[in-house]
Amino acid sequence: MKTVLVTGGLGFIGSNFIRLLLNDFSDYRVVNLDAVTYAGNPENLKEFNDNSRYLFAHGDIGNRDLVDKLLAAEKPDFIINFAAESHVDRSITGPKAFIDTNIGGTFTMLEAFRNYCDTGAKCRFLQVSTDEVYGSLGAEGYFKETTPYSPNSPYAASKASADHLVRAYHHTYKLDTLITNCSNNYGPLQFPEKLIPLMISNALEGAALPVYGDGKNIRDWLYVEDHCRALELVMRQAESGETYNIGGHNEMENIELVKLLCNSLDNRLGPLPDGRKRTELITFVGDRQGHDQRYAIDADKIKQDLGWEPQTDLKSGMEKTIDWYLDNQTWLDQVRDGSYREYYQEMYG
Ligand code: NAD
Ligand code: DAU
Repeated sequence: MKTVLVTGGLGFIGSNFIRLLLNDFSDYRVVNLDAVTYAGNPENLKEFNDNSRYLFAHGDIGNRDLVDKLLAAEKPDFIINFAAESHVDRSITGPKAFIDTNIGGTFTMLEAFRNYCDTGAKCRFLQVSTDEVYGSLGAEGYFKETTPYSPNSPYAASKASADHLVRAYHHTYKLDTLITNCSNNYGPLQFPEKLIPLMISNALEGAALPVYGDGKNIRDWLYVEDHCRALELVMRQAESGETYNIGGHNEMENIELVKLLCNSLDNRLGPLPDGRKRTELITFVGDRQGHDQRYAIDADKIKQDLGWEPQTDLKSGMEKTIDWYLDNQTWLDQVRDGSYREYYQEMYG
């Protein structure tokens, strides 16, 4: 049995990753360290609360004492650091939390990891990062692992700083670290501040669908389960010190994506009660400050080295995602009206 310390496991990707480890593998034990911020929802992993291979630890990755004690007690073989502030728009209006968690928190995790390895522990540290560290592409080209870092938003800059620290800890202290940089994830359990769940949620309510700028920005969409399978492979098999780009081979303009979602919902549910098609809810609004134009990943290295390729095309991934949100409207309602926060705040403060 291998023990995996997952940080940020109550969030979108972390909870999907833990579900994969516990459901599809029998030889992983998971310890989930999460601060339960607005984005961390204990409902996401409720079904594992009584599972003997799952342990939840409430706390901040920036709390050195807590992290030291957790490492000493649980003796992980792997640490995978998902914990972060993850929303670009929030980083523009309030960057401090991004600096504190994404840089300060990762630094604390690395120091605790270094100390743990000094005690003789054999452990690897995987930093879950983003393609946003590379900046923005024009109409042509792809991000490769060798593309220079050029982050544009406070979020991207905080993730880039963390990546540099991880790389430096490998180089300087010879620690067993890994970095992955992935494109935009989508799928079940994504907080409805991000484009796809926000649009699904608003389109179900008949509310406006705010598209930034001219809607022609391009993202490369990666189905979250494909991403989680890639992370498990990297964690277990990659050479120490490696970095891997992970992408979906699914580029699309935002406006086209929103139309696709609207048409799919119309096909399933019929038009809105007032007879309008959901595309009529699309509302062009002011652009995001410093909005990156295009992201696209060259995922050839992970294919060559580890045999990973995305399995889910955008159309089928979108249908699965819409299915999930339609089947889990209570989850969506409680996240949108904040009632899940009130409930868990009593427990976690
Ligand atoms: P999320 O916002 O859904 O979840 C973040 C989780 O981290 C939450 O459970 C939150 O409670 C926890 N957290 C935040 N601050 C913490 C702290 N100080 N200590 C402990 N826990 C804390 O994020 P996500 O979308 O699941 O992203 C996970 C990781 O993947 C992040 O590092 C993000 O930068 C990276 N990433 C995400 C995407 C994407 O499309 N969502 C793409 C590329 C990379
Ligand atoms: O590329 C990886 C990154 O993808 C991750 O590192 C981030 O954590 C994740 O949030 C995501 O960042 P984006 O900024 O690309 O995702 P978001 O869903 O916020 O926006 C996707 C695109 O849609 C972007 O071009 C902005 C646009 N958008 C977004 C929202 C929320 C809109 O047009 N309207 C909206 O309301």
